[in-house]
Amino acid sequence: MEITRSAFGKTHDGQEVWLFTLQCDSGMKAILTNYGAILTSLYVADRNGHFDDVVLGFPSLDGYLQKHPYFGALVGRYSNRIGKGRFMLDGVEYKLATNNGENHLHGGIKGFDKVVWSAEPVERDSAVGVKFSYLSKDGEEGYPGNLSCSVIYWLTSKNELRIEYFATVDKATPVNLTNHSYFNLAGQGVGDILNHQLEIFAERFTPIDKGSIPNGELRSVEDTSMDFRQPHTIGERINNHDEQLKFGRGYDHNWVLNRISRSLTLAAKVYEPTSRRVMEVWTTEPGMQFYSGNFLDGSLAGKDGRVYKHRHGFCLETQHFPDSPNKPDFPSTILRPGETYRTETVYRFLSETTG
Ligand code: GLA
Repeated sequence: MEITRSAFGKTHDGQEVWLFTLQCDSGMKAILTNYGAILTSLYVADRNGHFDDVVLGFPSLDGYLQKHPYFGALVGRYSNRIGKGRFMLDGVEYKLATNNGENHLHGGIKGFDKVVWSAEPVERDSAVGVKFSYLSKDGEEGYPGNLSCSVIYWLTSKNELRIEYFATVDKATPVNLTNHSYFNLAGQGVGDILNHQLEIFAERFTPIDKGSIPNGELRSVEDTSMDFRQPHTIGERINNHDEQLKFGRGYDHNWVLNRISRSLTLAAKVYEPTSRRVMEVWTTEPGMQFYSGNFLDGSLAGKDGRVYKHRHGFCLETQHFPDSPNKPDFPSTILRPGETYRTETVYRFLSETTG
């Protein structure tokens, strides 16, 4: 297993940006950059041992410096939406940057996906990784408290990408970190993801209003297009007449994961029939946003000259529920001084060799 570092370029204000390549003996490879703590490439074997890059992204730093829909990015301080960009905490109302209509999305105008992180290669038994660290200052995008944040991406000898998230703060704040990789298990840029078979281990989801803010309900998936308790292709019901699919312009919802303990739990399993790649998502988080790439429209030129059209990638963003700071009944996202935020998510790859 090895880690190598190479130059990726400079930001507009002259900060140096690097690429870190993590390689394991099986041939699986992950490439990351300290700009936005972004996963730029992930090479995974298919059933014949052929490696393809299964995540969407750009060939150069310039691609990531332009406006883009969070390809591979580390999203924070609060991933997903906070309604009207406002919340009350300990009797004080905080006003956040609004960048999605009247709402706050994915950390605001300059979220964690658009900052330069410090980076350090790390190693442990059967894994190589890179640790990214960032200090988000009190008041950044409207959030209270200096938040000291670190994220370690590990590539393990078991063909897993493991992401560990840590944070501490000097004043109470909401925190909700995730990774926003767009997967296509047939290979990035080769087509849409509608034939992927998806299983989500959740009995309930959080229905949204037309601004994509949860209405507070935890609704059963039974008899709805949201029921992925058995495998269904992503495309099977995506055009159904369903108010939730209309509001999300497809799937763009948070599932309430079935959880019996705080340890890593299987949240989802995805199977792509042509390559027979399988991806499992394990997490310590209570929720997961399944987003079916509804806003991709062919306007972005990606890696290897590929163009990403409508639904050419999907995201499985492990998280706390959207708008939790305004939803007292949702699991709390408030981190207080003296506490340590710690979550973990694993993307595990297998290839189906039978059937
Ligand atoms: C998340 C949001 C979507 C969209 C994508 C990126 O999944 O829920 O509405 O913003 O990110 O475009």
